[in-house]
Amino acid sequence: MIPKKIEKILNEQIEKEGYSSNLYLAMATWTDKEGYSGIAKWLFAHAEEERMHMMKFVNFITERGGHAIIPAFEKPPIEFESINKMFQQVLEHEKYITGTINDIVALAIQENDFATHNWIQWFVTEQIEEESSVQTIIDKLTMLGEKNMYIFDRDIMSLRDSE
Ligand code: FEO
Repeated sequence: MIPKKIEKILNEQIEKEGYSSNLYLAMATWTDKEGYSGIAKWLFAHAEEERMHMMKFVNFITERGGHAIIPAFEKPPIEFESINKMFQQVLEHEKYITGTINDIVALAIQENDFATHNWIQWFVTEQIEEESSVQTIIDKLTMLGEKNMYIFDRDIMSLRDSE
């Protein structure tokens, strides 16, 4: 059986991953409305990945004999200041998520829950990749500047393909 404290923290992560998915969906629809279909495509794909992350938590809790609770999600923002600022927000959000994954690692060690400790390592690696891919996007945006948004919008999916 899954330790109660672990079940609780993993259930909290269902909400965080689900909110991440909705946040990126909100960013995708705003970006599409602003005319950047390439960036929107990247964000839609990222939202799908976050839903997959959420489902990993749902499935793991269930497999371990726990009860995965599907929560309400806070409403994400509707509008964003600029493409640049939006990607900074993505990076900050991913850093926050990395912190929450680290909290799960720490609790798994504290509770001697080696199954969870082993399982959560996938997310530890995933967070390194997520932060790095968003940082690459921010670097490219800085390099190209606001005047070259057309090129950035056209090429952003190739950054994803090379991950
Ligand atoms: Fe599921 Fe982007 O963290």
